[in-house]
Amino acid sequence: MADLVYKDELKTWEERHDIEFVKTVDPGGETEDWNGRVGFVPLVLRDLELDPTNAYAIVCGPPIMIKFTIQGLDAMGFQPEKIITTLEMKMKCGLGKCGRCNIGHTYVCKDGPVFSFAQIQAMPAEF
Ligand code: FES
Repeated sequence: MADLVYKDELKTWEERHDIEFVKTVDPGGETEDWNGRVGFVPLVLRDLELDPTNAYAIVCGPPIMIKFTIQGLDAMGFQPEKIITTLEMKMKCGLGKCGRCNIGHTYVCKDGPVFSFAQIQAMPAEF
């Protein structure tokens, strides 16, 4: 719990009755006062029985988590246009000057960094 950020915001979401709020930590991250789930996000997703027909998924976090979460959402039937993520890990200067963030003709810093999975699928395979 000591490393948890946005504690007040998370508590507010947890108290809402119009959303289902699920929090999880990596195995080993739980403590005695942890009342959430324990498990990696892609594995927790499988248990949630989400209906992808009328839903968007917004995925942010470490690149490896993003990669496997998107694979899971794709397998669950989420439309690629409705999976939103960020490619900011590709950015260096963030100002459109260094040319280090380009994927094909797309400059992540100028054209994103937020993209749909459909947009990412249309990019060259270097991502
Ligand atoms: S991060 Fe430098 S050009 Fe995009």
